[in-house]
Parts: sequence; C-alpha cells; structure tokens
Amino acid sequence: MRLPVLFSLFCILCDVDGLKVLVCFPLPVKSLSILGQSVARHLMAAGHEVTYMTVYPLKNPPAKNFRQIDISSNVAFVAGDQMPSIEFILNNKLEMSSSRDIQLFGQEAARMTLNHENVKKFLEDPNERFDAIVTDLLETELYSGFAVLYECPMIWVYSMGAHWQVLRMIDVAPSPAYNPDYLSSNINPLSFTQRVQELWTRIQWQFFKTFFTQREERRIYESVFGPILAKRGRTLPDYEDVIYNASLIFSNEHDAVSNRPSTPQNFKYIGGIHIEEPVKPLRKDLQDLMDNSKNGVIYFSLGSFLQSKTLPRKLIKEMLKMFGELKQTVIWKFEDNSLEDVPKNVQIVNWAPQPSILAHPNIKMFLTHGGLFSSIEAIHFGVPTIGIPVLFDQITNVNKAVLNGYALKVDLSHGLPKNLKTAINIMLNDDRYTNKAKELPSLNHDRLTKPGPALVYWVEYVGRTRGASHLRSPALHVPLYQRLYLDLLAIIFAITFALVFLLSRLCKKKSGIKNYQKKTN
Ligand SMILES: *[C@@H]1O[C@H](CO)[C@@H](O)[C@H](O)[C@H]1NC(C)=O
Repeated sequence: MRLPVLFSLFCILCDVDGLKVLVCFPLPVKSLSILGQSVARHLMAAGHEVTYMTVYPLKNPPAKNFRQIDISSNVAFVAGDQMPSIEFILNNKLEMSSSRDIQLFGQEAARMTLNHENVKKFLEDPNERFDAIVTDLLETELYSGFAVLYECPMIWVYSMGAHWQVLRMIDVAPSPAYNPDYLSSNINPLSFTQRVQELWTRIQWQFFKTFFTQREERRIYESVFGPILAKRGRTLPDYEDVIYNASLIFSNEHDAVSNRPSTPQNFKYIGGIHIEEPVKPLRKDLQDLMDNSKNGVIYFSLGSFLQSKTLPRKLIKEMLKMFGELKQTVIWKFEDNSLEDVPKNVQIVNWAPQPSILAHPNIKMFLTHGGLFSSIEAIHFGVPTIGIPVLFDQITNVNKAVLNGYALKVDLSHGLPKNLKTAINIMLNDDRYTNKAKELPSLNHDRLTKPGPALVYWVEYVGRTRGASHLRSPALHVPLYQRLYLDLLAIIFAITFALVFLLSRLCKKKSGIKNYQKKTN
C-alpha cells in the first residue's frame, strides 16, 4: 500500500522540479541531430520535459515528457542536387567552406525554420511556456528570439570547440595569434604569415557579419518575433541586446586534445555526450566477424554527410582492390549494395554501429573523414586514425590529431588508394600511433563528471539561478577600443602632438629672435 503512495509522491515532486526545456536543432545536418538527440535524452532521463525541434524526428519517440516539432521538410535545403558528392568536390577543387558561405547557410536555415508552418503555429500559441532554451549554434544568433519570446535563459550548444566566433558571444574573442579559425588548416604555434592570414580571415568574417548577415538577421528577428510580442502587448528588445545575452554555451569538444584557448566560466565542454555507455552490442554477424579477425580490423567510413558511394567509380574499384591485398579485415561503411567483386576480407555495411565497432578489442585503425563526432569517438575508444579530410572543420580536426601523434593524414585525391595504402602500412608497422591512441581515453575519461550529467547539472543550474548572470564575463560589455586602451593612446598622442607643436613654435620664435639679434648686431 505504502509503495505506490510513495511512488506517486515522488512523481509529483519530480514534476514540480522538472524544467520545461525547448531543445532546438534546426540545421539540416544529420550528424548534428546525433548531438540534439543526446541532449534531449539526458534531459529527459533527469525528469525534465523536452520539446524537441528537429529536422530528423525520432521514429519511436518516448511517450512521456517528450514532444517533437517536426521541421523535416527543411531537409530539402541540403538534399537533392546540392548534396555534396565527393566526386564533384574532387574534380572541382571545391572550396565549399568559405566563412561567407557558412554564415549564409546558417542564416538561410534559420529563416526557413522560423517561417516553417509548424514552427509558426508553435510560436504563436500563447499557452507555451519554457524554463530554458537549448539551441544548436552555427554562425547565426537568430534563435535568441526564443529566449525573448518565452522570457527565459538562453543556452547554446556548439558542435565544435572553443572558437572565437562563439566565445565573442559571452566574453571576448581570443586573439587570432593563437586561436585559428575553424576553417583554417593552421595549427599553433603560428608563423608570422599564418598570424597575418588568421587576422585577415577574421577581418573578413567580421566585415561580412556586421554589414550583411547581422543586418539581415535583425530584419528577420523583427519580422518574426515583433508581431507575436506585439499581440501580447510587449515590445521587442533590440537585437544587439539579445544576441549577447546567452547564459551558457556548451561545446561539443573533448578534454583530451590540447590546443584550446582559455574560456569563460559559462563555457562548458560536453564532448562525447553522444556516446552511450556501455555501447550497444554489435550485430551478430559483425561481432563474429570482428571476433574472428586474427590480424585485426580496419574500419573505413566517411561519415553521414559525405557518402562513400559518391566517390568516383574508378576510385572505389581501386580502393576495393587495395583493401583486398591487406591481411586485415576491412569494414567499409558504403551506402548501397552496388559493389561487385568485393574481396573476401572486405565487409560492406550500409550503416555502421560506429561506437560498437571502435570499442571492439580487435580494431586496428579507423580510416575517417575527420568529422568531429568520429574524431571524438576515436579518442574515446583510443583508436589510431588515418584522416582523409574533405571540408569544413575536418581539416582542423585531422591536423590536431596528427599533431597529437595518433593519426596520419592522407589528402583526398585521385591517388587516394595508393597513398592510403602507404599510410596503412606505416601505421601497421609502427606501434607509436597505437600506443599514443591508447593513452587518450584515460585523459578523456579523467574528469569530474561525465558530459551527460554535466549538461543536466548546468541546465538545471541556469534554471535555478534564472540565467546564471553572475557567471557572465565582465569583458563582454567592454568595447574593443577600451580593452586595447585606444582612448588612452589617443590622449597620449594628442598631448605629445600638442607638446611637439608648441615646442617647435617656441623654437621657431627663439631662433627668429636670435636671427633678428644677429641681423641688428
Ligand atoms: C537577458 O537574460 C536574462 C536572464 O535570462 C533575462 O532576465 C533578460 O530579460 C534578458 N535580456 C534581454 C534583453 O533579453
């Protein structure tokens, strides 16, 4: 009799304590939905009520404490013709990742999201209430409008590391002299030319942001949120006041890899949050295959955004042949079943349970495009990698891994099979890479709290303290000219100039008098 009573009391208490959180992952990028789902999962497990705005809705959503706002039609923005094919990138030497393009990508995705009919309906409902907003951050701050609408704290989740583009939102941007752009392949310590490059990149980014993107975003912000607030008798705060008002930023980077700038107190690392522990058991056939691979297993995947099947056909054939010459078993994540003459030691899988494969003791190495999730998993499970970066932050990730001594890099080119084979042989014959990789997990796991509970703690903390404003950096509101003491410099210049001017006048006068005296003598 007593137990059910206690249980229902417990539930009531949970309901009282539970926060209503809007978790919003509106970018049509599949890997980001992995992050979004993990955030939602951890918050729900802690008893909070989650409303999840997503482009990739869960097929079997949990029945309790969970609701989805489906914006899956936004996939059209990246799907179809625009889906990047590796063959296209390879043949056109495509620099897809200019900072201008990415700013516009984020902005366009935000415009589509805020004007999506499901989102509009949701925003216009006056009965919606939230205690916190947790939103994916990429190059646009437009979603800050949610925090204004629901009068609650704003928390960002950034899928990458401590880059200046995000730190500037809660503190100051670290100097380009040691904080290279995430699209750059420069790694600390920077040479003189690299430092100048980084400064130039930043000036370009800021110029485009200030004079184009941010202006347009202000317009979207006012047109979307203005009328809704007006209907509720409220006025819209200024966009500038809103975007620099975030309570906290989570960063999806791990603690094991060096090369991070110092960060403010309201910047928290939660890298690895997407890894479920213990990992799910492998499918029976894969488990048997890996168990029986006496010479070890090489796992090859180019991630979910860039698919192996979009490699040129000729390259695919040569890769298969090259893999066939190896003693190891090769598991290749390849997205269709069109391959012929697959060698005996090569296993094609359309979809791979990556963490479970990387966790297997027989794994020898991971051939990867160097996306952030794959990079984190390699570190988490201590697997040496050969990186084949294609675009975006992959180049930086792979460079960092190489610098940390557990990875090799091979450029994407028509010579990929040959170069990859060389790299595989180097790695197979040199234990240093494996040994270095084996050190990483201990570094990565040696932290006070795991990323999941850390996320929950900080979201609750922000909720409890209504925005954790005491964690905010005072530097945020000090303009650049004050930080650099340019005003003092201006005063010193002015005084010096005035003194020099006066002195020169005085000297002239004196020499004028002397000359006069000379003449009269
Ligand atoms: C900034 O955030 C705090 C805490 O979440 C909130 O109380 C305040 O209204 C926000 N200010 C603006 C201009 O949105």
